[in-house]
Amino acid sequence: MKICMIGTGYVGLVTGACFAEAGHQVVCADKDQAKVDLLKAGGMPIYEPGLEELVQANTQRGRLRFTASTAEGVESSDIVFIGVPTPALPDGSVDLSFIEHVAREIAAAMTSYKIVVDKSTVPVRTGDKVAETIKRYCKGRVEFDVVSNPEFLREGFAVEDFMKPDRVVIGVRSPRPVEAMRQVYAPFHAPMLVTDINSAELIKHAANSFLALKISYINALSVICEASGANVLEVANGMGLDARIGRQFLNAGLGFGGSCFPKDLSAFIKIAEQIGYDFRLLKEVQRINADQMDRFIKKIADTLWVLKDKTLGVLGLAFKQNTDDVRMSPAIGLCQRLLKEGARLRVHDPVAMEKARTVLTGVTYVADMNEVAEGCDALVVATEWPQFAQLDLPRARAALTHPILFDGRNLFDPAEMEKLGFIYKSVGR
Ligand code: UGA
Repeated sequence: MKICMIGTGYVGLVTGACFAEAGHQVVCADKDQAKVDLLKAGGMPIYEPGLEELVQANTQRGRLRFTASTAEGVESSDIVFIGVPTPALPDGSVDLSFIEHVAREIAAAMTSYKIVVDKSTVPVRTGDKVAETIKRYCKGRVEFDVVSNPEFLREGFAVEDFMKPDRVVIGVRSPRPVEAMRQVYAPFHAPMLVTDINSAELIKHAANSFLALKISYINALSVICEASGANVLEVANGMGLDARIGRQFLNAGLGFGGSCFPKDLSAFIKIAEQIGYDFRLLKEVQRINADQMDRFIKKIADTLWVLKDKTLGVLGLAFKQNTDDVRMSPAIGLCQRLLKEGARLRVHDPVAMEKARTVLTGVTYVADMNEVAEGCDALVVATEWPQFAQLDLPRARAALTHPILFDGRNLFDPAEMEKLGFIYKSVGR
C-alpha cells in the first residue's frame, strides 16, 4: 500500500519505518525541514532501540523516504496517517491545533479518494471534527474516509511493540476503509478490533488511564507494605499470578511520568468533566502519583537530615528505561526538588544525558555510572535501567562518604545490600 505518515516523532517515525519494513511504500512528511534533512542524511532525532537499523535498511530499499511537504506526501499516497503532537493546555485539556492544521493541509492536497487515519492520542469525537474540517477545506468533491487507529506502543520498546502488537484497533464510520486497513496491518498478524470512531478514540485514553491506575494502586500498596513490614514485590508477584490481574505495571517506585500517562490522565479527567462526569477515581490516581515522589524525598531527608550542601549521586534521568526521553521524567523532577533543597548532584544516565542537559542545569554530568558515587553522601536510583543492577557495588560503597543507597525503582535485593554494608532504602520493602 502507498502510505503517507505525517509527523516524525516517536509514533510517526516508528510507524513509518515499521510499515516500510512490512513491505509498504512509505513517505514520512514533517514540516520541520531540519529534521527531514537529518533523516535524509541517515541521522536519528530520537533514541529508540532497533529504529535506526529499520530506517536505514528501508531507505536503501527505496520503501521509505522523507519530505517536508505534506502536500507531496498526500498526493503520492492512498492512506494518510496523522501522528502529530497533541500537547496539554494549561487547564489539562488537549491542544488539537496541530491536528486541525494537518487536516486542512490534507484537504487542500487531496485530488482523489483518501483514507485519513488518526494515530495521535485525541479526545473522543475528534474524528468527527477532522471529517468536518476536511470536508470544509477540500476543493471540489473528493471522497475520503476518516479512521481512528490509536497507537499502543511503549517508548523504548516501540519497534518490538509495533511489529508484534497485542491488538490493532480500527474505528470507522463506514465499512469502506476496513479492507484497506486490514491490508495495511495484515503483515503484523494481530487481532483486529473494528469499532466506531468514538469507541476507538476512547479505548486509548481508557487503556492508558487504567495502566496508570495499576501503577498508583501498587504505589499505594507500597505505603501499606512499608508500614506493616510486608514486601511490595512479593505482593505484586502474588497478585500478578492471577491471570485476571497480571504482573505487568505493578512495579512500585517513584511513580509514572513521560509524555503520555500524565498528559492523558489530565485530558481524560477533562473530557469526562466536559461530558458531565467527575472522574474522581483518576484524580486520586494523580494524587497518589504525586505523593509517591513526596514520600521518597522525605525518606532521603529523614536519613540525611539537612540536604543543603550534601552531595547526592543520581542514577537515571530518562522517564524510564531504554529511552532518551526526559519529558515529565520523575528522575528529573526528583533532581530539581533536591537542587531546590540545596543539594549538589552528580548525575548519570546511559543515553538521556544529552537531552537532560537542556532541562537540568547546575549538576555534574558523569559519563561512567561507576564514578557517580565518588565523594557523595548517598546514591539514588531514579530510573529502572537494568544496567544499574550491574553497578560495581563494593566500589560505590568505598567511594561514598556514607554507604547509603536510596533505590526509587527497587533494583537491588535488600538482603544483599545489607551484606555489602549498605544502608539501603527502597520502596515498599
Ligand atoms: C505508555 C503506554 O504504556 C503505551 O501503551 C502507550 O502507547 C503510550 O503510553 C502512549 O500513549 O503513547 P510509555 O509512556 O512509553 O507508554 O511508557 P510506559 O512503559 O507505559 O511507562 C510509563 C511510566 O510508568 C514510566 O515513568 C515508568 O517508569 C512507569 N511505570 C511503569 C511504573 O512506575 N511502574 C510500572 O510497573 C510500569
